Amino acid sequence: MTRRAVVRGVGHYLPERLVPNHEFEDSLDTTDEWIRSRTGIERRHFVTDGQGTSDLAVRAARAALQSAELSAQDVDAIVLATSTADLTFPSAATMVQAQLGMTRGFAFDVQAVCAGFIYALANANALIVSGQANRVMVIGAESFSRIMDWTDRSTCVLFGDGAGAILIEGREGEGNSDDRGILSMDLNSDGRFRDILYVDGGVATGSIGHLRMQGKEVFRHAVEKLVSTARTAVSRIGLNEGDIDWIVPHQANLRIIKATSQRLGHSLDDVIVTVQDHGNTSAASIPLALSVGVNDGRIRKGDLVVTEAIGGGLAWGAVVLRW
Ligand code: ACO
Repeated sequence: MTRRAVVRGVGHYLPERLVPNHEFEDSLDTTDEWIRSRTGIERRHFVTDGQGTSDLAVRAARAALQSAELSAQDVDAIVLATSTADLTFPSAATMVQAQLGMTRGFAFDVQAVCAGFIYALANANALIVSGQANRVMVIGAESFSRIMDWTDRSTCVLFGDGAGAILIEGREGEGNSDDRGILSMDLNSDGRFRDILYVDGGVATGSIGHLRMQGKEVFRHAVEKLVSTARTAVSRIGLNEGDIDWIVPHQANLRIIKATSQRLGHSLDDVIVTVQDHGNTSAASIPLALSVGVNDGRIRKGDLVVTEAIGGGLAWGAVVLRW
């Protein structure tokens, strides 16, 4: 028997303020047409004053608890992926723990920018497989609108805010690729590329700063590294790309999503795409897409799902799970 981390519930939350592309046309030299054709993005949601990343995360976690038919007291740990925690500390995860009314267990944040949810899943899986926790709430939540330079048209039109969550729990499997749950993963980072995607503020500068990105450079790395990490993760369990039922990629750019899935031998029919409605929500984009794909009935029990992401660091990786 092999211990597996199996998905029991999923949920998401998007802040109410919906911002269509044309809203940027008044303040920037940009057009709805440019944004759609270069990125696939049509709209995104932004937090309003007083709304923090932890508030989004709590709403997503409650939705996941409801779909799992569990209460906060049934959860042993919260692992929250974010680069936009409300405060430098304490972690957003402990704020979520308090707001959920969870008085036992433990909670912590994981920071790997857009690859954060992949890293959070890998951590949560390790906690379950090693017996440290049996039920883990894995959340991706972001308020990237707080770190945008609103005068920089090459970045501020790309990002959005939101949160997604999945509740995973330990169950016994047979130890083969037919098991439900997390089956394999592949994690990578290369800090030599810090300058192509970063925020120019933080503890060292005394201000939170703004996101800076050399979009073309990031694009160049994205397709090659995403294809390679997805292939590696799938091959680790003796499967190949043809066995994938659903690709659930980080949602940064429709052109990246298309090129990556094509190279993995899949059309967009096999990909959950939400970038048109959410923009790039960094660590929240994969759990948001998982929640959308499950709620609309596409992702079903037994499906082989491959998630993959790349972001600042650079950090990238993939997780393969059977739903
Ligand atoms: N509206 C109109 N024109 C624009 C805009 C805009 N919003 N933004 C840029 N342009 C202009 C540029 O100034 C440039 O003009 P120029 O030729 O006169 O200099 C022209 O459009 C082309 O710009 P490029 O940067 O070459 O455009 P590109 O086709 O590469 O698309 C984009 C830019 C969308 C950013 C793309 O490079 C991309 O998606 N990169 C990857 C981003 C990504 O994957 N990020 C993931 C990680 S995010 C994270 O980790 C936080």
